[in-house]
Amino acid sequence: MFRIKTMNAISPAGTGPLEKKGCLVGPDVEAPQGLLLRSADLHRYDFGPELLAIARAGAGYNNIPVEKCAEQGIVVFNSPGANAEAVKEQEICSLIMASRDILGSIDWVRSIATEGDRIPALVEKGKSAFSGPELMGKTLGVLGLGAVGALVANIALELGMVVYGYDPFMSVDAAWRLSREVIRAETVDEIYENCDYISINVPYNEQTHHMLDGEALAKMKKGVRIVNESRAEVVDDEAMTRALDCGWVAKYVTDFPNKVILRAPNVIAMPHLGACTPESEDRCALMAANELYDYLLNGNIKNSVNLPDVSLSRMGVCRLCVIHRNVPRMITRILDFISALDINVEHMINKPRGGYACTIVDLGAEIGEDTAESIRAMSDVLRVRVL
Ligand code: MLT
Repeated sequence: MFRIKTMNAISPAGTGPLEKKGCLVGPDVEAPQGLLLRSADLHRYDFGPELLAIARAGAGYNNIPVEKCAEQGIVVFNSPGANAEAVKEQEICSLIMASRDILGSIDWVRSIATEGDRIPALVEKGKSAFSGPELMGKTLGVLGLGAVGALVANIALELGMVVYGYDPFMSVDAAWRLSREVIRAETVDEIYENCDYISINVPYNEQTHHMLDGEALAKMKKGVRIVNESRAEVVDDEAMTRALDCGWVAKYVTDFPNKVILRAPNVIAMPHLGACTPESEDRCALMAANELYDYLLNGNIKNSVNLPDVSLSRMGVCRLCVIHRNVPRMITRILDFISALDINVEHMINKPRGGYACTIVDLGAEIGEDTAESIRAMSDVLRVRVL
């Protein structure tokens, strides 16, 4: 049925159900209608005319040129929240590692392994070199209160921290997930000025590029400890290195190592491990596969990052799906073609998102490829499908 190319290793929890539904799925699938991927970089990928949708098994989508896709009528999905538990767990571990020199202490204990009976005494004598502050009673600032940020904020309260949250784009769902005890910061500076620990959970985009630059770091408390589970580029690593060198930032725990930050002191870097649990890989793959399949089969869009979410349960005998620019008279112009054929509209939906919009019309009779072609030829129409 549908041809779906996998661009990374995707859990069988996602590919299996697609295959059971008759889809051809795999890394060598040609002329794909759907792409299923994790971190494969699509910025230089040539999208074929058959490509209808891309599903990212994960939350971040900076590896996909979403605007270019929208222009070509290609829907991009992500799987928000599907790996949030895994990332949350690593963040809690990171907050603790940012405080207590657990890694240094483990290395030191290994280094005295040959000391025989002296080990217990050496341990008691040497341990103070690795002590660090408790989280209890400290302030944590959570930047970005999406699925991960909200979980981290709530758990930090359980750990006895005073938690500030900052998210100018917080969704209603996210607000429901968040404990009322989280203090809402009106400005990001409130986080910088008040917090002993800062956890970065914002999506990476043009607005968040180098959000933590030299100016932001200078506003923070001396000795601040920072955890980055977002993306490397949210932090200006040169500025972070200077802040670590002079001790302004006491510890930087990041899931995004690179040649700049690895030269700095007091960095704990992991290999983008936050979402790497079998459970989260299964959940992400399944969510992405379901979104992709529902779009290919029914034209329904849920969790798109470049086009509006539109869903309708199916009615009638034929469905017309149009992705178009968000300009006046589009619905009228589409429906004019339907009226001319004397076909009944069973039900329909139109949703905008920025400069784009999607229209789904369920019809009482079949329409031919000639009608689809005429709608395709209209100005401001980006993609037309008859399902
Ligand atoms: C995400 O964006 O979902 C996480 O960083 C994990 C990943 O990229 O796979």
